Amino acid sequence: MDTPLPEPSADEATHSARLADAIRQEMAAHGPIPFARFMERCLYAPGLGYYSAGRLKFGKDGDFVTAPELGPVYARCVARALVPALMACGEGTAWFELGGGSGAFARDCLLELQALDALPKHYWLLEPSADLRERQRERLRAELPGELFARCAWLDRPPQHAWSGVLFANEVLDALPVTRFTLRDGEVFEEHVDANGNGAFVRVDRPTDPLVAGAVRHLQRHLHREFDDGYRSEALPQLPWWLEAIAGEQQRGAALFVDYGYVRREFYLPERRDGTLLCHYRHRAHADPLILPGLQDITASVDFTALAEAGVGAGFELVGYASQSEFLIASGLDEVFTAARAAASGEAARYALAQQVKRLTLPGEMGERFQAMLFARGLDADALFAPLIAVDRSARL
Ligand SMILES: C[S@@+](CC[C@H](N)C(=O)[O-])C[C@H]1O[C@@H](n2cnc3c(N)ncnc32)[C@H](O)[C@@H]1O
Repeated sequence: MDTPLPEPSADEATHSARLADAIRQEMAAHGPIPFARFMERCLYAPGLGYYSAGRLKFGKDGDFVTAPELGPVYARCVARALVPALMACGEGTAWFELGGGSGAFARDCLLELQALDALPKHYWLLEPSADLRERQRERLRAELPGELFARCAWLDRPPQHAWSGVLFANEVLDALPVTRFTLRDGEVFEEHVDANGNGAFVRVDRPTDPLVAGAVRHLQRHLHREFDDGYRSEALPQLPWWLEAIAGEQQRGAALFVDYGYVRREFYLPERRDGTLLCHYRHRAHADPLILPGLQDITASVDFTALAEAGVGAGFELVGYASQSEFLIASGLDEVFTAARAAASGEAARYALAQQVKRLTLPGEMGERFQAMLFARGLDADALFAPLIAVDRSARL
């Protein structure tokens, strides 16, 4: 870390200490816990985890900025990309958003769908954080016309009945608790977290179970090489089951995931010897997930080859894979920009709009780091998604 992180306030320090105590109690009872469990508690422990407790996360006063937080352009393009799928599904459709964050995406997406005369019957949000659920509800109630807000519903779990429409997740996969693994003499070990004599959290490697070992062997087979001794990285062995649970009842429609990540051979580059973990605290990024429990975001990049495998395994057709900039351009960015520019009320608004588009599309910003992967089921994808298929790079997977 080059510059020290900002000091937490006294309240934050107390909050973090409470979560650290709760995690240490679990360790005292059960021994070192898998890293995935540690990450889950840091992010989602009820009332204490990063996403479950009150401080603002998104936007300039939070810890990081996501594409929907930059302004409405991103949501408008996503809405346009997926309207053909919604229309093809007929009556009674749903737009199902995972991890709605501050609610900015839902607001801008619903307004755009209304403008395009393509409103779904339902707008479902699945949000594990009770605090974020409340913030989303308040924001959408305040900022949407009543007839749009009436379509919004917060689900406690994925739909358990047949439905058709669109599934969408922006920066959700990177927030799923990841398994960390390493290799010693060709054997797979799983990274765990323990507390040392001073109570500080430390990494401990332990022999792993067959699920994780099998997932790592699968990666090696697919990459046509073995990982070096000491190589350490992440995997999401549960991804196929997670996706099946989320989308298992979707009969027809599309599923779009946007996140930062790589194709598998770039994710597991031999020189990337400590994985892809990234933590965010007050707009500083660093790689130590063991500090500031409950106060910082912890994320890992997405192995998009694994997502493609999971999607196809869950019965989807893989329609396309593109960088965020290619995806947005193919989804009507030009028209969205032109309309927003015409509606902008002055030079400052036009400048802000140009900045928004730059952040979304420039290679050094989100344009190349973020990728979009689109799946479909029961639809004529070639006809509905021709502009996206024209920029498809799934051959790289
Ligand atoms: C980095 S934030 C992104 C928020 C929003 N999509 C955006 O782009 O601004 C991750 C979001 O995913 C949610 N999340 C984490 N795990 C989830 C899961 N298993 N299902 C649905 N949402 C989840 C978090 O609570 C949070 O709202």
